[in-house]
Amino acid sequence: MPFEFDKIIDRKTSSSSKWTKYDQPDIIPMWVADMDFETAPCIKSALLERVNHGIYGYTQTPTELPPTVVNYLSEEFNWTIDPDWIVWLPSLVVGLNVVSRAFAKDGEAIISNTPIYPPFLSAPTYGNAQTVTAPLNWDGTRWVMDFKTLEAAITPDTKAFLFCSPHNPTGRVWDIEELNALVSFCRKHNLILISDEIHAGLILDQDKKHIATGNIPDAADILVTLQSASKTFNMPGLGCAYAVVKNPILRKKIKKIMNGIVHHVGALGFTATLAAYQNGKAWHSELIEYLRLNREQVEKTLSPCDGLTVYHSEATYLTWIDAREMAVNNPSLYFEKFGVGLYDGAPFGAPGFLRLNYACPNSILQEALKRIKSGLAELT
Ligand SMILES: Cc1ncc(COP(=O)(O)O)c(C=O)c1O
Repeated sequence: MPFEFDKIIDRKTSSSSKWTKYDQPDIIPMWVADMDFETAPCIKSALLERVNHGIYGYTQTPTELPPTVVNYLSEEFNWTIDPDWIVWLPSLVVGLNVVSRAFAKDGEAIISNTPIYPPFLSAPTYGNAQTVTAPLNWDGTRWVMDFKTLEAAITPDTKAFLFCSPHNPTGRVWDIEELNALVSFCRKHNLILISDEIHAGLILDQDKKHIATGNIPDAADILVTLQSASKTFNMPGLGCAYAVVKNPILRKKIKKIMNGIVHHVGALGFTATLAAYQNGKAWHSELIEYLRLNREQVEKTLSPCDGLTVYHSEATYLTWIDAREMAVNNPSLYFEKFGVGLYDGAPFGAPGFLRLNYACPNSILQEALKRIKSGLAELT
């Protein structure tokens, strides 16, 4: 492989959130969703060139960027958008909070499926709205939306659906029938559909494709898609994301909430996004191959283990694990004692579950899996 995914890079020296979380220095952190790989060389060199310019003044969106985004979404997801539909954001979580405030007033509600990336649950309440949840169902093969439970959960005050596609943490890649059913559900209940598609560039199953929610007939008028190159190209520390909003009334509401409060994207975030979308393809293809191998190792190693139920991730670099059969109160704390930092399921709305991030050099993954197994062995 020309790209060095096996290379171990010390991240503690860069104040990495992932690597500075634990007081015990030797814990392998596998919680937050960023990767321990250097980003694509084309991104690094574009950033170096921009840094070498030496002046970091207020920056407009580079003129090449909107058409580049249009091309990228068309090539990758067969989704045709107009550049005028793009609203730039300094992060996708900012987007989740902005749309929550734009579409649910005080006392109104926003619905999400659980388990879910924790900011989906907090964003409505930060804006004085309520979070309503309905659990995904395990149908014996995969996690699925249960529209009966969703019907029962919504109230007349529910104004929007925060949706994650592909889904963090289960790694589901939603199929066309599921997306059609979701759009019908939102239409029936007059919900604005907010589709967080930050993991769309991380489809691992060879027989699966990301379907942009924007390609579902009848979705466009009620839809806000949130996107970013940051997950796919490992640069969330640079702060660049965007919403794609076809309906001008929804776009206006979003911009009104942002006015004077939400900061512009910085020069480096724009530079990196442009380089990623223009030149990142070769690196991205190898990343996907590397992640597939790591995923296989996680699933082969942990699936036979008593106490854990390991779910196959069709996309993302995250494995969702049910650890409720382990005879311990707090599985994430338990594994920390064995030197592995997994994300606890409770903030995702699923206590007793764990999320494992396998986007790291394979030698580190092997060591982490060894530690998890020795933790499990202590219980038998
Ligand atoms: C589904 C989802 N949305 C948003 C984010 C965060 O995006 P950002 O760093 O742009 O705020 C993450 C990060 O893990 C995520 O998994």
